[in-house]
Amino acid sequence: MRVGEKHYRTVWREGSTIFLIDQNQLPFHFAIHEAKTYKDTCHAIKTMIVRGAGAIGAAAGYAMAQAFLEHTDVEQAKKDIETTRPTAQNLFYATSRVFTAHDPVKEAQSIADKDAAACKRIGEYGQVLFHSHTRVLTHCNAGWLAFVDYGTALSPVYEAQRRGKSVLVWVDETRPRGQGARLTAWELHHEHVMHMVIPDNAAASLMSHGNIDLVLVGADRIAQNGDIANKIGTLEKAICAKAFGIPFYIAAPIATIDFAYVSGKNIPIEERSQNEVLYQTGMTKHKALETILVASPGSGAYNPAFDVTPAEYITGIITEKGIFTPEEIAMLKAR
Ligand code: MRU
Repeated sequence: MRVGEKHYRTVWREGSTIFLIDQNQLPFHFAIHEAKTYKDTCHAIKTMIVRGAGAIGAAAGYAMAQAFLEHTDVEQAKKDIETTRPTAQNLFYATSRVFTAHDPVKEAQSIADKDAAACKRIGEYGQVLFHSHTRVLTHCNAGWLAFVDYGTALSPVYEAQRRGKSVLVWVDETRPRGQGARLTAWELHHEHVMHMVIPDNAAASLMSHGNIDLVLVGADRIAQNGDIANKIGTLEKAICAKAFGIPFYIAAPIATIDFAYVSGKNIPIEERSQNEVLYQTGMTKHKALETILVASPGSGAYNPAFDVTPAEYITGIITEKGIFTPEEIAMLKAR
């Protein structure tokens, strides 16, 4: 995607260094982070300099390739990479592929390239859900920042707009880290897509007033039966959408499907630091980044980063191979 006059991917490799758009600094500063070793790349994944299922997957693949280039203990490196973040299936898909590849560097590059190509296809398949005027709700950031390029849930939005359709995106702010307010809004602003950031608890009301035509979100892991894990708050939106008869779609590449999970029940859910709930970081009027306490001093917080939406709430899953019902996911194993 373009930032200013330049085309960027979220993560890329030059020699043995991995370059990443620093998502912790967005939307206030656009900065590139350099990870020179596989441990640096692990740190970037863990601290969410790079985040989002596909971008994490690509970074993990590159980290595995760096470990080979460093001639280090690659089995230990694989373990280190896999303990950075536990929920996104794309991470485990990438480490296993690169670990067993004949040419690890080439394989890591191919994972990143395939992610970008899959997301482009998702946009082409998904844009059919958009009519001449569509108001779509999205949660978290499943745009190009969350993948190598194009994104998943936002790829159909970009494609629909490119084809002349009018799109309004309702952007859930996505507490506690604010990926919607910070990242999705930043992306949409730069792509000149009409959008409004809304509080996380506003969607049901908007649905009840007939202001949402479609819900479109990403996924971090998809089980064989079509249950999906995604950013905390997704389940709530799915239940609301069903109550108001609004189509609820997931957009994700096939690499997000984990056939080892028969249902979503046992998908590992990352629990993150309570400080993400208790504190918020933003820009002051003097343009400095500042972190402030936003909860009652002394209170603790619980911070599960993902939830699981059962297949019964999902209308369809948009992949690079077409749009499937949750029931059809199991048959993709045979393909
Ligand atoms: O914790 P994050 O920001 O890495 O969250 C993962 C996600 O990007 C979302 O859950 C998204 O909706 C899934 S698709 C990338």
